[in-house]
Amino acid sequence: MRAAEIADQLTTVLVTEEEIREKLDELARRVESDYDGKELLLVGVLKGAVMVMADFARALNRPLEMDWMAVSSYGAGTKSSGVVQIRKDLDTDLTGKHVLIVEDIIDSGLTLSWLLENFASRGAASIEILALLRKPEAAKVHIDSKYVGFDIPTEFVVGYGLDYNERYRNLRDVAVLAPHVYS
Ligand code: XMP
Ligand code: MG
Repeated sequence: MRAAEIADQLTTVLVTEEEIREKLDELARRVESDYDGKELLLVGVLKGAVMVMADFARALNRPLEMDWMAVSSYGAGTKSSGVVQIRKDLDTDLTGKHVLIVEDIIDSGLTLSWLLENFASRGAASIEILALLRKPEAAKVHIDSKYVGFDIPTEFVVGYGLDYNERYRNLRDVAVLAPHVYS
């Protein structure tokens, strides 16, 4: 689905499909060199990171393992609750693994700070974060994210995996949801 097809529900397209592809390629080259000779485990955070994971993993020209974690920090609305719940834990033992958490977006940072703390006790050799998007002005806690695609304004965005009430995930671009849709 392209942004033009639902233009009445969006205000601005912030990042296009093409820009995402170029950025993920660029990040993939960095990750290939940073993790040269190391065992790499990508951990995708469901469900928002599904698209980033699919495209980023295929941009990487190297062996890797993939696992998924499902947590919830948002209800049906557009504000972070700060309360994180594990809905699906990893299947993989992190001992000795170089873990790269793949996220769609860092908003308040609360979800990732909780995840980092949770992973820290599982014996990983290293833990880093790759996030396609980051809202710098919304940060409530500082998150050291080594690989960030795009810094965006503090607005609710949808598309490329990001949803509002489970809709818009299949939008190819990342766009600002028009306030009339959720108010
Ligand atoms: P925090 O605030 O903990 O939030 O960094 C992280 C999670 O919240 C979701 N999130 C969004 N989802 N549009 C969305 O569709 C947004 O603008 C947005 N901001 C945060 C997302 O699941 C992220 O992993
Ligand atoms: Mg998410």
